[in-house]
Amino acid sequence: MSEVKFYYGDQVPLEMHKVRIVQKINLKPIERRLEAIEEAGFNTFLLKNDDIFMDMLTDSGVNAMSDKQQAAMLEADDSYAGSTTFTKLDNKVREIFKKEFFLPMHQGRACENIISQVFVQQGTIVPMNYHFTTTKAHIVINGGIVEEIFTDEALKITSEHPFKGNMDIDKLTGLIEEHGREKIAFVRVEAGTNLIGGQPFALENLEEVRKVCDKYDLMLVLDASLLADNLYFIKQREEKCKEMSIKEITGAISDLCDIIYFSARKLGCARGGGVCTNNKEAYLKMRELVPLYEGFLTYGGMSVREMEALTIGLEETMDENMINQGPQFIAYMTEELLKKGVPVVTPAGGLGCHLNAMEFLDHIPQTKYPAGALAAALYVVSGVRGMERGTLSEQREEDGSETLAHMELLRLAMPRRVYTLSQVKYAVDRIAWLYENRDLIGGLTYVEEPKVLRFFFGRLEADSDWPEKLAAKFREDFGESL
Ligand code: F0G
Repeated sequence: MSEVKFYYGDQVPLEMHKVRIVQKINLKPIERRLEAIEEAGFNTFLLKNDDIFMDMLTDSGVNAMSDKQQAAMLEADDSYAGSTTFTKLDNKVREIFKKEFFLPMHQGRACENIISQVFVQQGTIVPMNYHFTTTKAHIVINGGIVEEIFTDEALKITSEHPFKGNMDIDKLTGLIEEHGREKIAFVRVEAGTNLIGGQPFALENLEEVRKVCDKYDLMLVLDASLLADNLYFIKQREEKCKEMSIKEITGAISDLCDIIYFSARKLGCARGGGVCTNNKEAYLKMRELVPLYEGFLTYGGMSVREMEALTIGLEETMDENMINQGPQFIAYMTEELLKKGVPVVTPAGGLGCHLNAMEFLDHIPQTKYPAGALAAALYVVSGVRGMERGTLSEQREEDGSETLAHMELLRLAMPRRVYTLSQVKYAVDRIAWLYENRDLIGGLTYVEEPKVLRFFFGRLEADSDWPEKLAAKFREDFGESL
């Protein structure tokens, strides 16, 4: 059990750590924030940290480290080959995932690059519960096709389904039967499904996916980047797992998968990544590419300090009181916004709180990027930086037309153990105000648009003077307040 009950009913998340080092952050006046978003081409990726109050862009590489992680970084063994630091990490991965072979890589997408180069051939299909941007880009660049076989619940913004990240087993079987097993490169399951709001899969569903993979002799690949949240939800929500330890649940998941890869910028609260497997043949094929793209097999592009921190971080991920922090803060934020009528994705997932921009800004068509406009507007009125997850993040079709996203979300990631409850309350206050003033927000248009992963560096402009009008209304309502 990891929940702490408050006797007088004020049920708020409780931090299970204390703060021993802090970083000053700036809340600049709205006039400066307006300038900053214009300088950034209305793209929150291009804002400078100095102008940001709460950075909820991502939880990638920005989770708070523990004292033990920091301490471990000091005793890292710096050597190109055979580093003791790597041996420790290798042993920890083996202990947690029970896989014999581990290949270190510099981050999650590096794993995706190597897995895709090795296992995706021209015209092959990768069925998955949902895509992630970098995953899809690597599969597509290698000639593969992504097929999403989520359940009917997955795209429902408002739902009570505990496992919206589940795969639809009948659709999976149907897809394999339709195309033939030789057309399938592998089956991919993503823990804590990122782009649909950090939604988990159930262990039971993964067992069903495994059965299908066994039937057709297909490899099951797990993206474990957001595994920590998924583990917590399985323990909380899946009856048969209530008595299992987090480590036992991890072992059960791992036993079902042939290849596990992860971004250690998320899993393990460090910076790096890696791939593990018991399949020697697959390991040897992937191993060939590691020195080419990443570095020698005992660091794979990671610094030894990060590897030390990761070893401890993976161990700490097995502690329920550590992995409950993200989901509990996210649930609190989601509930508070719901009380104020703000449209959010439910049930609250992992990773962050997700605002439904399609409803928030139902006067803005998808081709004018409602989620991107909401991200820019929220920054202007609060200094809170979120990330657009909608059409703006999609890639155009070959003929230049827009790929309209299934959902238009503004993701407000919750870096773990970074922000306090009062800061979360501040964000809720400003979002609620923005919701009341949503009619003032207008659309965006690209002025510089890269072809691949355009959301990273693309620049946009407002389609009217709506940002100025929004700032003026803020001044009217908030007076001299920051
Ligand atoms: N898979 C998932 C599910 C991810 O969320 C990410 C990264 C990656 C793979 C790629 O890992 O960044 O280490 O190369 N997600 C980050 C985010 C970028 O902000 O959600 P990476």
